[in-house]
Amino acid sequence: MNYRHAYHAGNHADVLKHTILLAILDALKRKETAFFVLDTHAGRGRYLLSSQESQKTGESSGGILRLLGEPDLPLPITRYLHAVASDNPVGSVLVYPGSPLLIAQAMRDQDRLTACELHPEEAAELKTLFSRDQRVAVHFRDGYEAIKALLPPRIDSIRYHRGLVLIDPPYEAQEAEFPRIFTVLADIQTRWPQAHCALWYPIKQRRNLRPFFRKIASSPIKSALIIELLIRPDDSPLRLNGSGMLILNPPWQFDAAIAPALPVFKRMLGEYGASTRLEWIKRES
Ligand SMILES: C[S@@+](CC[C@H](N)C(=O)[O-])C[C@H]1O[C@@H](n2cnc3c(N)ncnc32)[C@H](O)[C@@H]1O
Repeated sequence: MNYRHAYHAGNHADVLKHTILLAILDALKRKETAFFVLDTHAGRGRYLLSSQESQKTGESSGGILRLLGEPDLPLPITRYLHAVASDNPVGSVLVYPGSPLLIAQAMRDQDRLTACELHPEEAAELKTLFSRDQRVAVHFRDGYEAIKALLPPRIDSIRYHRGLVLIDPPYEAQEAEFPRIFTVLADIQTRWPQAHCALWYPIKQRRNLRPFFRKIASSPIKSALIIELLIRPDDSPLRLNGSGMLILNPPWQFDAAIAPALPVFKRMLGEYGASTRLEWIKRES
């Protein structure tokens, strides 16, 4: 376990992932009924952009920092920028909120979050961050195993019918991670079929993802949408050229809600040869 998200916090991949995450949470909040979120790979929850790690890569300068001060942005992006701003002094981003913090900030009193993290230091930071928030449980455990142990969600004898599973692994085994992820997605669909499920994936060479998407398309999974941002052509296996989110069972009209963000991401975060994609790989008829 060498991966540390502090090196990457606020980069183009976080911008895409967290904008989509917040849009899903907003869709869940359209109903009063409580929802549950399982964040399987949570990280430490909050990142200082002045840290040695962040300064070493400077990745946030190609991500969140490029969006600051831009007028007339579409709703999903302004929503995301407001969420980041609520953790920062006016007009600057010194701290970048990770997925569990964004989720907790978006939740209401009745909603619940369980966040899993397997790195001992990251998990300890995360526990401290949420030590006073009764709505959030932090588990120092394998997020994939938590799916088996915690779904369908039941807390204090309350069953949660609505919610989200966010899966954001570090992909240290690269493409070899996908067969395991496929099994995990199928398991989530069996255990908690009503849930939305969002998987983040890196794109180096997009063609390497095709077998995984074909498997999803030919599985009993009912609906699957992919949303991608490539900041440059996907021609090198050596660097992160872009990333995507695979959404299973997306909220109603989610494609239309998120679409306006993509050309703006391409224009503001992209380099030469940037592109975006919004595509149903499986759609309920
Ligand atoms: C990409 S980072 C998470 C970033 C976070 N989701 C966010 O958006 O702010 C992946 C995290 O997963 C942790 N991790 C790696 N393997 C894990 C596993 N099997 N279960 C839970 N966490 C794991 C790593 O330590 C790392 O902090």
